[in-house]
Amino acid sequence: MTIDGPEGAPHDRCMKKLLVAARANPKYWADLFRAKLPGHDILEQKPIEDESPIAYVVVGRPPAGLVRSIPGLELVLSLNAGVEHLLASGEVPDDVPIVRLVDDGLTEGMVEWVLAQTLSWHRNLTAYRALQAEQSWAPMHEKLAHERIVTVLGAGALGSPVAQLLVRVGFQTRVWSRSGRAVPGASAFKGRDSLHAAAAGADVLVNLLPLTSDTANVVDASLLNALAPGAFVINAARGGHLVDGDLIAALDSNHLSGAALDVFREEPLPSGHPFWRHPKILVSPHVAAPTHAHIAVAAMVDNIRRYERGEPLRNVVDRNRGY
Ligand code: NDP
Ligand code: OXD
Repeated sequence: MTIDGPEGAPHDRCMKKLLVAARANPKYWADLFRAKLPGHDILEQKPIEDESPIAYVVVGRPPAGLVRSIPGLELVLSLNAGVEHLLASGEVPDDVPIVRLVDDGLTEGMVEWVLAQTLSWHRNLTAYRALQAEQSWAPMHEKLAHERIVTVLGAGALGSPVAQLLVRVGFQTRVWSRSGRAVPGASAFKGRDSLHAAAAGADVLVNLLPLTSDTANVVDASLLNALAPGAFVINAARGGHLVDGDLIAALDSNHLSGAALDVFREEPLPSGHPFWRHPKILVSPHVAAPTHAHIAVAAMVDNIRRYERGEPLRNVVDRNRGY
């Protein structure tokens, strides 16, 4: 069989199957894969009564039982950067690698979002909006970036570029990670013992950790109390990192001045949740770094190509670490 098209390398003739198990727009995603992997059989749903192998599955939050039921699975490609749901499902066989989504679209989106929130708080934009509603002309003390300390929890695919940009803008930037990963221009903090030192006196706390058994509830009263009075909290990682009641208490006592929350323990955020109406909390619907399908598919196809050439995969989840 001759395969035409830009990606028509000899290994395209293998006709391996790839199942797209996206909850939204599976046909759209499948067509993008078809364009990039012309020699593969791209499925939009698992065929009934066909037990022939499906080598690859592309999943976000798969319906219960789906991944377990796939015959001959070789590789799982996550539609999300965070894979806690996939790991918690326990459905991926131990010998099947899971690769998480890391791509330039996610990175660019997250960098923009965190910078927007940080600058908006730093330059009092939300406060001026409230003053405008009262037709109040009330200049506030405007600090410069180098007078502020920003602590980023997580120095990975997202935390590291976020910290790099904060450094460029001029903020005194700290990054906290498991291994103490260095970010040029930022102070690096390593491991649980240094968590409070990383947060001590910080004006802004940015959470970009994966949700694991080690990081659940990490943003609690003791961490919030270590921040500078009037500090601002940005959670763009997972709702399970934040102890909701501790945040509300720190805002209501005026220890914190505000919070921007993009992720929640339950999504969509249930109606009636106190975050919705809290005057110091900005809620966004998990859009800090939306997935851009073309960019995501290119990253996933790159990993499939690597796999088929026998090269090391990128962004493989370490199941022992949980991320
Ligand atoms: P990475 O795996 O690339 O980076 C994770 C970072 O967290 C690493 O620096 C790692 O340390 C650090 N870390 C992990 N566990 C610990 C620990 N126990 N103590 C200290 N540091 C720890 O993840 P990404 O940067 O790609 O993504 C981070 C998270 O962002 C995702 O898991 C997801 O939850 C969230 N996300 C949110 C989106 C949104 O739209 N709101 C979109 C995309 C992602 P080390 O470097 O030493 O390994
Ligand atoms: C996530 C994602 O993990 O959207 O939140 O990729």
